[in-house]
Amino acid sequence: MKVYLDNAATTSIAKEVITEIQPYLSTYFGNPSSTHSFGRKTKNAIEISRKKIADFINADNSEIIFTSGGTEADNMAIRRAVIDLNVKRIITSKIEHHAVGHTAENLKDSHNIEVVYLTTDKKGNPSIEQLKELLKKDVKTLVSLMHANNEIGTLLPIEEVSLLCNKYENVYFHSDTVQTMGHYSFDVKKLKIDFLVCSAHKFHGPKGIGFLYVNKNLHLNPIITGGSQERNHRGGTENLYGIIGLAKAMELAFSDLENHQKHVEELKYYMKEELYKMDSRIIFNGETDPNKSLYTVLSVGFPKDICNSMLLFSLDIFGIAASGGSACSSGSTKGSHVLAELPFLENFQTVRFSLCRYNTIEEVDYTLDKIKSIVLKGK
Ligand SMILES: Cc1ncc(COP(=O)(O)O)c(C=O)c1O
Repeated sequence: MKVYLDNAATTSIAKEVITEIQPYLSTYFGNPSSTHSFGRKTKNAIEISRKKIADFINADNSEIIFTSGGTEADNMAIRRAVIDLNVKRIITSKIEHHAVGHTAENLKDSHNIEVVYLTTDKKGNPSIEQLKELLKKDVKTLVSLMHANNEIGTLLPIEEVSLLCNKYENVYFHSDTVQTMGHYSFDVKKLKIDFLVCSAHKFHGPKGIGFLYVNKNLHLNPIITGGSQERNHRGGTENLYGIIGLAKAMELAFSDLENHQKHVEELKYYMKEELYKMDSRIIFNGETDPNKSLYTVLSVGFPKDICNSMLLFSLDIFGIAASGGSACSSGSTKGSHVLAELPFLENFQTVRFSLCRYNTIEEVDYTLDKIKSIVLKGK
């Protein structure tokens, strides 16, 4: 049996998405910038997709800028906020994805920007009280806090933070919503946020495509200069198949969001309970309260006396894919920077199981069974 429980790293592409993309791989190949009928056909398909996507989050079409994914969208928001909006200070946390953390550090060196890190509690929640205090200082600031942590699943009260940032004219709010877009509903008009980020491969769309939502009151210049695509916001021939696939993936995600959420949540809490029964010393990272935790992620800390670093390899031998840290850092020799911020985890072996709407109870049972055999052997 093959079981894929690494959906926070990437998801399988939905078959409906493949069907939707197919004609654009063969029949409709015109360059969307060409003015002849071949180009008009694909340009039209892109604009229909943009409208569909914008409608799902209650944005205007002009507020959606297609990018190569979450990393580029994060980069664009943060870099252009510094260059075009004259931001002098970035408030963030140490457990952001590297697309945010490394970008902020890079700007600190290249543009002499102050970078302030909020402290985080044991569950990975950044201190909102500290944020409130920091915002009292009158300096152009970008607050960059992820909606959900990709490694431990902590969920930010994004509405509360947005409300807070909106009190100040000099404060912009960017949230890396890569792990939540396609999994939660968004209404940007209610949220009143400046920047949101999407990556299609996190919800059964293609890799290499995403978008940055930019509030229409802000004007950003491109980080990728070239042609006048994306209304001069991003040069380069559009990723036509990606855009078509992203719109379809969003349509599938939003068509039955509540049921998807319910199904995945049931699997997560079933797995959590069964693991706890196995050994009550097993801990769960991030908030385990359903309202404060990303429902697709179950980050588990196994006491080291019953489980060693071979657990992931052993699971892999049984055909089960899970993860230690994030996929982006798995090729690196360094450990996870997120787990490093939670020092009490030193005594635990952390494994992230991340679920999707296609996972089944049988797959979870199979996984639990294999964990039991590995862990009990270590006892
Ligand atoms: C929270 C978060 N931000 C950004 C990214 C990067 O997205 P992409 O792979 O589309 O560049 C990821 C991907 O793992 C992520 O989990």
